[in-house]
Amino acid sequence: MRISDPQLIGALAALGVEHKAGVSLAEKTSLEIGGTSDLLLVRRHESLPDLIRLLKQAGVPHRFLGGGSNVLLPDGELPWVILQLARQDPEVRIEGNLAFVDCAADLGRTVTTCAKHDLGGMEGLIGVPGTVGGALRMNAGAYGTQIGSFVREVQIYRAATGRIETLRGSEINFEYRHTSFAPDDIMLAVRLELSSKPYREILQGIRICNEKRRASQPLNQKSAGCIFKNPPGGSAGRMIDELGLKGHAAGDARVSDRHANFFVNAGHATSADMLALIADVRQRVRERYGVELEEEVIVWKDS
Ligand code: EPU
Repeated sequence: MRISDPQLIGALAALGVEHKAGVSLAEKTSLEIGGTSDLLLVRRHESLPDLIRLLKQAGVPHRFLGGGSNVLLPDGELPWVILQLARQDPEVRIEGNLAFVDCAADLGRTVTTCAKHDLGGMEGLIGVPGTVGGALRMNAGAYGTQIGSFVREVQIYRAATGRIETLRGSEINFEYRHTSFAPDDIMLAVRLELSSKPYREILQGIRICNEKRRASQPLNQKSAGCIFKNPPGGSAGRMIDELGLKGHAAGDARVSDRHANFFVNAGHATSADMLALIADVRQRVRERYGVELEEEVIVWKDS
């Protein structure tokens, strides 16, 4: 969606929001799938309430994009303008066992910054791509560690009230790849409580997790991580593998040969290719196992 009204463009500039016209969103996602739209880069969190009020008044629909590592965007011209948060400086501030982290910060870099301050516990999250905000929103996890367990406080823009609010960790429900945040809440900053651990020890844990990940996941290919959530007590990857679907494709969207729950963009896959592959695999799993797989990747649909 394009913003062309000069008055609105002027108001955005007055708020300190950077307006980038006609941005290719494929370049902003790890799947490298997605059409184009205008992008609004929010430099100051405090401008969000005014910005969203302004867009509403002007009748401009919007969506918020984080690190783009767990999302499937539509092809063509998108029917929303895209909001993104600029990284704050500093990204991480340490006080004792607490880390105050900007949600636009890269998750992996945050884990290593904390490690350098002898703060550990998050080693399992090292290879999870994307931002801290994205990880928080869906309680990202790997190797027995979920980010939710470290959260003491979160600052969000709450769409329902149009205000910036601070929530205590105990007020938020963190479940497997799910949280009680509303879909249109925007994560701004988080206070994590970590445990004291020597840097060398943390580094050792990080190395082990990196090796495990390299051995089982297609890290050098364009993907959004696991496409489906694991069903209770089961493994989506194992089921898809057992069905012999590694290498199975729809256009350039392909089930990874390395990990069957990773669907990769093997060339110039479109959103339609990826959605067709998701539907096909879901149906085969339903027919064979009677299990309805739920997407783990966030699919942006018109609505
Ligand atoms: N398996 C197969 N074939 C495959 C893939 C897996 O048989 O092609 C088997 C494995 O041998 C293993 C079981 O399935 O016995 C589970 O596989 P794995 O250990 O790779 O873990 P996963 O359940 O598939 C989950 C998360 C990953 C996370 C890893 C490591 C989900 C949906 N996935 O994968 O997270 O990195 O554990 O902790 O919960 C993501 O969220 O995007 C993601 C990649």
